[in-house]
Amino acid sequence: MSNKKFETLAVRTQSETTQFSEHSVPLYLTSGFVFDDAEEMRASFAEEKQRDLYSRYSNPNVNEFVDKVCLMEGAEAGFAFASGMAAVFSTFATLLDAGDHVVSCSSVFGATHGLFTKYFPKWNIECSYFNVNEVETIEGLIKPNTKFLYAETPTNPGVDVLDLAYLSAICKKHNILLVVDNCFATPYLQNPIKFGADLVIHSATKLMDGQGRVLGGVTVGKKELIREIYLFARLTGPSMSPFNAWVLSKSLETLAVRTEKHCENALKLATFLEAHPKVKWVKYPFLKSHPKHDIAKKQMLLGGNIIAFEVKGGLEGGRSFFDAIKMCSLSANLGDTRTIVTHPASTTHAKVEPEVKAAAGITDGMVRVSVGLEHIDDIISDLNQALN
Ligand SMILES: Cc1ncc(COP(=O)(O)O)c(C=O)c1O
Repeated sequence: MSNKKFETLAVRTQSETTQFSEHSVPLYLTSGFVFDDAEEMRASFAEEKQRDLYSRYSNPNVNEFVDKVCLMEGAEAGFAFASGMAAVFSTFATLLDAGDHVVSCSSVFGATHGLFTKYFPKWNIECSYFNVNEVETIEGLIKPNTKFLYAETPTNPGVDVLDLAYLSAICKKHNILLVVDNCFATPYLQNPIKFGADLVIHSATKLMDGQGRVLGGVTVGKKELIREIYLFARLTGPSMSPFNAWVLSKSLETLAVRTEKHCENALKLATFLEAHPKVKWVKYPFLKSHPKHDIAKKQMLLGGNIIAFEVKGGLEGGRSFFDAIKMCSLSANLGDTRTIVTHPASTTHAKVEPEVKAAAGITDGMVRVSVGLEHIDDIISDLNQALN
C-alpha cells in the first residue's frame, strides 16, 4: 500500500471492513472493547496481543486517521489528540524533564509561546528563542541540557520559512531532537521527516479538516518516541474522540485536491496584494519577494494558504480594513473553506510580550489571511473594496 501515491493512500487507507461489507468506514462510538475470556484480557493488557482495549488508548477510527497521517508524512508511528495544543503539550511533556532546555523559533503559535513562558518555568524547564531571520545564532543557544529544537515552518502568523535540512544538520551535530509543527504546510505540501525531523506535530483543526468543523491534533515520527508519547497520553487522557477521527479521516481523502485549490487562490491573492497601493508589504512563501523563497521552493510543493500583509496606516489602517470586510470572515481560525482575515496583534498573539511580538515580525497593522475556496474573483473583490 505505501508505494501508492499520496491521493491513493488518502482514499484507500481504511479500517478493516465489518461483517456488513460497508464501503465507507463506520463510526465506532464505543468507549471500551470486550474480551473473549480472562486470558485474552490479560494478554491484551500485557501487550502480548495487539488490539483495541479502551478508546483513551486507541479506537478503530482513530487508528485509521493516525495510519493515514503516518503514510502521508513517511512516519513510523503516531498518536492522535483532542486538539493541536493537546498534541504540542503532550509531546513536550513526554520529552522534557525538570531542568531541561528547549531552543525554539520565536515566531510560534501564541498558545505554544504560553506553554514556554507561563507553565514550563514552574517545572524548571527553560526555553531560548531564536529569530527566524538569524538562524546562524541557533548553535550558540544550544546547551548541554537542550533536549530539542522546535520549529514551525511556515510560521504562524509571520509566514516565515525555516530551512528544515539546515535545522536537522544542527540537531544531528549536537545530538538533540528536531520537532516540527507542520500545521501550515500540511503533509501534502511538506514532509519534515524527509529533511531529518524526529517528530512532526499537526493541528488537524486546520487544513486537515479544512471545513472548520472539529478540533484535532496528531504527533507522528520515530517509533520509540511515539511509544513514550502514547504512554503519557494513555495516563493523562488527551486522546482524539472517535467521532472527530472519523470526520478527519474523511477530510484527509480530499486533502490534496483541496490544498491545491487553496494554494492556487492564495498565490493569486498574494500577487494582487503585492501590487496594491494601500499595502505596505506581503509575505507568501511562493512569491519571489519572500526572503526565503528558494528554501520554500526546495521543501514545499506549493506555498500554502496563509498570507501575511500590512495595511498602510498602522493600527488605524488595519482597523478600518477589518471593519470594511463584507464577505470574508473575521475569525481566529485558519485552514477553512471560508476565507478568514485575522488581526494577530489583538487576537491570537494578544498575550505575547511586545518584544517577542516584534521578534516574530508581528506588527500592529499586520493582517493574516487564510485563503479559502470561494471563487478567487470574489475573495479579491472583498479585500480590494476593504483596502480602498
Ligand atoms: C501552528 C499552530 N500550531 C498549533 C495550533 C493549535 O491547534 P488547536 O487549535 O487545534 O489546538 C495552531 C492553532 O491555530 C497553530 O496555528
